[in-house]
Amino acid sequence: MIAPERLDLPYTAGVAAATDGLYERVSRTVTPVEWELYAPYVARIEALKAQRQAIVLAHHYQTAEIYRCVADVVGDSLALAQAAAATDAEVIVMCGVHFMAETAKLLSPHKIVLLPDLAAGCSLADSITAHDVRRLRNAHPGAPVVTYVNTSAAVKAESDVCCTSANAVRVVESLGAPKVIFLPDQYLAAYVAAKTSVEIVTWQGHCEVHERFTAQEIRALRAQHEGIVVLAHPECPPDVLASADFVGSTTSMLGYLRETNPRRVAMITECSMAANLVDAFPEIEFSQPCNLCPHMRRITLPKILRALETLSPQIEIDPGIAQPARRAVERMTAIGRDSR
Ligand code: 13P
Ligand code: SF4
Repeated sequence: MIAPERLDLPYTAGVAAATDGLYERVSRTVTPVEWELYAPYVARIEALKAQRQAIVLAHHYQTAEIYRCVADVVGDSLALAQAAAATDAEVIVMCGVHFMAETAKLLSPHKIVLLPDLAAGCSLADSITAHDVRRLRNAHPGAPVVTYVNTSAAVKAESDVCCTSANAVRVVESLGAPKVIFLPDQYLAAYVAAKTSVEIVTWQGHCEVHERFTAQEIRALRAQHEGIVVLAHPECPPDVLASADFVGSTTSMLGYLRETNPRRVAMITECSMAANLVDAFPEIEFSQPCNLCPHMRRITLPKILRALETLSPQIEIDPGIAQPARRAVERMTAIGRDSR
């Protein structure tokens, strides 16, 4: 359990003026009392961002006050990697987890990359080591290795190319190989295997958040909410994906909502995603089980402020690892998203 952080900066007239109009962005999910606790941090973070020439990148799983009030770019893992490569800011603050910050550092090696809490990890990244990848390569000679970005830089360094959930099928097929080693998410691998004729060898990694969703929950949602449209992330187990109306990365789900504008929706993914969309899609009724990522939750406004004040904690990557890992990530960013 992560200890809640004290929010003890005062809400002054100056803070009110500096954050004027921002509350409307989060008013459906943040109460006015909570806002008076958050606003002083938002005001200071905004001022420091300008002073440090910093950019804040936030994943869709960040809480509303970060996602909608201090982030300059929001997106899925692929979009955040692309934004990190494209920015001319001096400092990148990653509001996400460790592998996202490492990916940003790989793509912007001369910039300062800050992760407000270095303990923000990922069960997928923790499931596999560089040694495991070498063993798999030996067991399947000649098969290229495609590694999900939810891995350490050391694992990426052992890979031919990375992918995200937004381009996994396209990346696998781009290799033109009959067999591919696809790591480390067993469920994403099963999803890819169902979409391609390429033979997929995988690993037993799972996302601790998405593996908790069940097909039974989806049946119950459909029984309770007539006409509900179910969108699921490919890190979910296969029976959950089979029960969904649409499967895609976090950003693909957002695109689906924009294009189809359904009335009732269940987002079968980390539950902050739906909370962040409530303000953007006020006409949609969201209902889903709430599974939170404990790693994403480690990023808070006070930690973002501290990171900008102290320019720490910074992400550093051993140059011997960074070079091959960067090659694998750059091969991925050169390949677009999967088509829907
Ligand atoms: P995407 O944002 O790439 O869909 O990934 C989801 C995820 O679990 C990141 O931690
Ligand atoms: Fe990792 Fe799952 Fe959390 Fe994403 S949601 S960071 S895959 S544990």
